[in-house]
Amino acid sequence: MALTGIFLMTFLIVHLAGNLQLLKNDGGKAFNQYAHFMGSNPLIQLVSKINLMLIFIHMVWAIILTKLNRNARGPVPYNTVSNESSQWSSRNMLILGMVILSFIIIHLRHFWVETHYGNISNVAYDGTVIPNLYSVIVYWFSKLWYVSFYVFCMFGLAFHIWHGFPSAFQTLGMNHNKYNCGISFIGKSMAIIMPSMFAFIPIMMYLRMISQ
Ligand code: HEM
Repeated sequence: MALTGIFLMTFLIVHLAGNLQLLKNDGGKAFNQYAHFMGSNPLIQLVSKINLMLIFIHMVWAIILTKLNRNARGPVPYNTVSNESSQWSSRNMLILGMVILSFIIIHLRHFWVETHYGNISNVAYDGTVIPNLYSVIVYWFSKLWYVSFYVFCMFGLAFHIWHGFPSAFQTLGMNHNKYNCGISFIGKSMAIIMPSMFAFIPIMMYLRMISQ
């Protein structure tokens, strides 16, 4: 869980950096060129397959671990309603994971499947013709309910990282009094900054579209 989680965090940082191209007011040129580069590079395509596999492993392992923990507890469940010694996010990692899973299923269906198997129109930049993936994103981010769904799911992602980041270091035995404070600070900062920026992109695109 810890290793796959850390890899997925790295993926999210790269994914966010790429998606920030959407904020440029250039009709999608920078984003389309970035997406085309990612989609046509064999090494990146290999990492992409590994990434999808790791998401699957992370998810299946989470379900197995939760089941094992529940069995180990015996017939009397822990009080999951209020527990002063643990945070809400740590007690509800599976539920938060489920919110993210539903997000990923819908997200992959609309963007990933469309990119790889869809019928996306082309656009030409300086004589080079590439798929206009930007138009697919504009289509979805022009719907208020879709943008709201993204924003809601980003709260789930924030809580998931908030607990998951320090927990991964603890699992790997990399927690030490000297470093715990720094690890916790980095984890909390990532939990706030990354989902906020992921939410900021559809909000900004939506606002830009309705103001046109
Ligand atoms: C502004 C928000 C986001 C936008 C515009 C966006 C856009 C996209 C697009 C266009 C693709 C297809 C690209 C391709 O396969 O070539 C994609 C793939 C993907 N996205 Fe996102 N994304 C966003 C947020 C997220 C978040 C928050 C997550 C995870 C929690 C996520 C997880 C993924 C995954 C796992 C893939 C498949 C990547 C792969 O091929 O390995 N995305 N996204």
